[in-house]
Amino acid sequence: MPQDHSVVRLEDYQPTPYQIDRVSMAFRLDPMQTEITTTLRMAPRQGSNNSQALKLQGDEINLIGARLNGSALDASHYEATPDSFVLHKPPQETFILEFVTRVAPDNNTQLMGLYRSSGTYCTQCEAEGFRRITYFYDRPDVLSVYEVRIEAPKDVPYLLANGNLIDSGDMDTPEGFDTAQAWHYAVWQDPFPKPSYLFAMVAGDLARVEDHFITRSGRNVALHIYVEHGKEDRVAYAMDSLKRSMKWDEDVFDREYDLDIFMILAVSDFNMGAMENKGLNIFNDKYVLAKPDTATDTDYALIEAVIAHEYFHNWTGNRITCRDWFQLCLKEGLTVFRDQEFSSDMRSRPVKRISDVRQLRARQFPEDSGPLAHPVRPEAYSEINNFYTATVYEKGAELCRMLKTLIGDDGFKDGLDLYFKRFDGQAVTIEDFLASFEEACSVNLTQFSQWYRQAGTPNLVATYTYDAARGQMSLTIEQSCPPTPGQPTKKLMQIPVRFGLVARDGSSATFSGIRDAKSGSLIGGSDCTLLTLTNREHTYIFEGVSTDALPSLARGFSAPIHLRTNLTLEDQLILVRHDTDPFNRWEATQFVLMDHLIRQTRANQSSSIAVDQPVNAALIEALKTCLLDDSLEHAFRAQLLQVPSEADIAREIGKNVNPDAIHAARESLRQELAKALGTTLVELYQSLQDGGAFQPDSASAGRRALRNGLLDLILAAGEGTAKGIATAHYNEASNMTDRFAALAAMTLNRSTAADALLTDFHDRYADDALVIDKWLSLQASSPQEGTIGKVKTLMDHPSFSMSNPNRVRALIGAFAMNNPIQFNRKDGEGFKLVADIILTLDRSNPQTAARLANNFRSWKVLEASRQTSAERELRRIANTEVLSKDVADIVNRCLQ
Ligand code: PHE
Ligand code: ZN
Repeated sequence: MPQDHSVVRLEDYQPTPYQIDRVSMAFRLDPMQTEITTTLRMAPRQGSNNSQALKLQGDEINLIGARLNGSALDASHYEATPDSFVLHKPPQETFILEFVTRVAPDNNTQLMGLYRSSGTYCTQCEAEGFRRITYFYDRPDVLSVYEVRIEAPKDVPYLLANGNLIDSGDMDTPEGFDTAQAWHYAVWQDPFPKPSYLFAMVAGDLARVEDHFITRSGRNVALHIYVEHGKEDRVAYAMDSLKRSMKWDEDVFDREYDLDIFMILAVSDFNMGAMENKGLNIFNDKYVLAKPDTATDTDYALIEAVIAHEYFHNWTGNRITCRDWFQLCLKEGLTVFRDQEFSSDMRSRPVKRISDVRQLRARQFPEDSGPLAHPVRPEAYSEINNFYTATVYEKGAELCRMLKTLIGDDGFKDGLDLYFKRFDGQAVTIEDFLASFEEACSVNLTQFSQWYRQAGTPNLVATYTYDAARGQMSLTIEQSCPPTPGQPTKKLMQIPVRFGLVARDGSSATFSGIRDAKSGSLIGGSDCTLLTLTNREHTYIFEGVSTDALPSLARGFSAPIHLRTNLTLEDQLILVRHDTDPFNRWEATQFVLMDHLIRQTRANQSSSIAVDQPVNAALIEALKTCLLDDSLEHAFRAQLLQVPSEADIAREIGKNVNPDAIHAARESLRQELAKALGTTLVELYQSLQDGGAFQPDSASAGRRALRNGLLDLILAAGEGTAKGIATAHYNEASNMTDRFAALAAMTLNRSTAADALLTDFHDRYADDALVIDKWLSLQASSPQEGTIGKVKTLMDHPSFSMSNPNRVRALIGAFAMNNPIQFNRKDGEGFKLVADIILTLDRSNPQTAARLANNFRSWKVLEASRQTSAERELRRIANTEVLSKDVADIVNRCLQ
C-alpha cells in the first residue's frame, strides 16, 4: 500500500488531460493468479493542455504487459510502479492503451479491489479500489462505457458484471490450467457511462432468487438476488423491499429504473453496508438476509432502508455522480435523505424521525464536536475512506431536508427535477446541485451553502416572554457555531425553525401575526409555522396570542442544531402532555429525563455515596398517561420509554466526563421509573402479548418494541418476579426479536439467569454467523467488570474471526461503541484492548481498523485520568512504525 501521506485539496481540482470513453476488460479467474486484460480507448480531453504526460493510478499493481495501439510498449516509453503508470509521450488523437495485470483475490484481505468472500469472487471499487485491478484514472469524473468478459471454470456457474449480458458460452480451458476442468465465459455490457468506482464483477457458485418489476412505462425488469446456497429462504424481505423502492421512486421522485436487469449479491465479508455498483449492487449479507427466527425487527428495518438506499443511488450517484470525492455528500446526503423519506412512508413518519435524530445525535454530534469534525463537504483529505462519515451521510441528509423545509415541497421537487434533467450523465458539484434549486425556485442559497462548508453543530438560544395584558409573546433566538479544527470563526447560517404554540392548559393557542421586533415588518400571518434565521439574533413578536402559551421550537428537528430555551421543567411537562408535534413531545420527555440524569450524575461525581434524587412526580404521571394512551402508536410509546443513553448524557455534560457516574445515574433513574410506574408496566406488558405468526410490518414491530421496552424496564426494577417473566419471554419467543430482546434485557440488567441463557442462545444458533454476531455484541456491551476478559476470551472463540469485518464490529466495535464504562475504564484497559486490535487489524484490513479507531474521537471530553490513558494508547498507535494511511490519519487528527 502506498505510504503516501499527502493531502488532496478541493481547490486543486483539475480535469484529467485525457478521457477514457471505452473500457473493455477480460478476467481470467483464479484464486491466486487472476489475469486481467484491460483495454482503454483514450483521447486528449478537449481544451486541455496535452503537453502533459499521461499518469494513471494503481495500487499494488502487478503489471504483466502494456501495449499502445496494439504494439507492445518499449520500457523507455513508460514508467510503471505498483501505484502509477506514466506514459511519457501520449498520442494526440484517440489511442488504445492496454494492460495485462495479475492479482491474487485470495490474498486480498483489505477487501478492496478483487477479492473472494466464502469462495465467491467479488469486487469493491469505491472509493479507490479499481486501481487495485488495473491502472486507471480512478476518480469519479472520468466516465466510460464498460464491456466485461469473465472466464472461469464451470464450477463457478454465475459470472456477472454491470449492465446487460450480451454473450456467454463454453470455451477451451486456457493454457496452464487443469484440462480436466471445463471452462465458460460471459460478456456484459453497461450502456451507461460510469466512473470506475461503480464497476463490479462477481463470479461464484451461488443460489439465485428471481422476481421481476414492471416499470411505469411498462418495461419488465428482471430482479435477481444472489446468496450462498441454503440462504434462499432469507431473501423474501429484501426482494419485497426492492420492489417497493422501485415503485416509490417512480411515485415520489419520478425516477424509473433504466436497465433490463437489477442484481444484488450478498457476501459475508464486506467493509461497509452495501455498494451501489450500476445494475449489480453488492451487499454485506447482514443487510439482505432475514427470516423471523434469525432477524430482529431492527434488522428488517435496516434491510428495507439499505436496499432502498442502494437502489436510489441509481439516480442520485450513478446517473448523476460526483465530480470529485469532496462532493461525496452530493450522492450520500441526498440518498440518505431519500431512503429516510422512503422508510417514513413505509412505516411511521414520527417514529422514523425520532430514531433518525437519535442516531444523528449519537453518531454525528460527537464527530462534529470533537477532533474529527469536518464540513459536510470537506476541503482536504489525506485518506478518502475516512470521510464516509456520519457528517457526510447523516448531516448531509439533514441539509437536504432543511432545503426542502426552506423552499417548500413543490419548490424542492422542481429543483430536483431540474437537477436530474440538467446533469443526467454528468459528474457534478454541490454548487451545481444548489444552482438547480436557485434557478427552479428563484431563491438565493448563498447563505444556506455555509451548511456545506462549516463544521460544528450550531447552538440556538431561545428566550420567550409572554405578556398577558397585551396578548403578545416575544421570542428571541440567537445563533452561534463553535470553533472546529481549522475553522476558528464561523459565518452566520440560514436556519429553518419550525414552531407552534402550545397553550398552558393544553387547549389550542392561536396568534394573529408575527412581526420582526427591530424592523416592525410582518414576517408571517396566523398560519405561519416556520421562522428562518439569518442574523445572529432575531426577536419575533407574536401578536394576538389567544391564551397563555409556550413556544414549541424546532419541531420535527427542523435543523441539526443544539437548542437551549428558557422553558422551565414545568413548561416542558406541558409539552410532554400536549404538544401536537410528536417529535417535540418526545423531545420534551427526553429533556425532563436528561435534567434528572445530569443532576444525578453530578451528585454521583461529587460524592461516592450519592443519594438517589426523586424522579419528578409530574413526569411519572405524564408518562403513565402516554403509555396508556391508545391513540399513540406503540412504537412511539416505546420511544418515550427509552431513557437517554449514556452517550447522550456524556454529550450533554460535555467535559470532565466520568462514565461511571453517568452509568450509575442512568441505572438509578431506570430503577426509580420502573418502581414508580409499577403495575402499569406489567399490565401493559401483559396486554401486548403477540399471537399469530410473525409479521415484519411496522405496526407489529411497534407492538413488539413497546412490549420489549417494557420488559427491559421491568427488569431494571430488580429481579423479583421479573426473572420469571423474562425467562418465559425468552423461552416462549416465536421470533428473534422477542428472544433476543429478553436475552439482552437480562444481560444488560445483570440478571442472574443471563449466563445460562447466553449459553442456550449460543447453542441454538451456533451455525448462524449473523445471529452469533448478536451474541458477541451483547456480551461485549455488558457493563460488568469482567467484560474485558470476556471479550478477550471470545476472540479465541471458533466463530470469531479477525478477517471478517462483521465479526470484528460485532465484538470489538460493540465494546468500543456500546459499552461506555468498560471501554472508558479508568485503568485504561479498555483503550488498550481496542488499540491492540486496531494495530493487529491494520496489517490486514486498514479500513476496518480505521473505523475502530474512530471510537477514540471523544477522548478529550473525559475526565483527566481517563484522558491520560486514552492519549497514551493513541500515541502508541501513532508511533507504530508501519501504519496504514487510514489509521494514521484518524489517530493523528484525534491527537491534534
Ligand atoms: N457508497 C456506499 C453507500 O451506499 C458505501 C460504501 C462506500 C461502500 C465505500 C463501500 C465502500 O453508501
Ligand atoms: Zn450511499
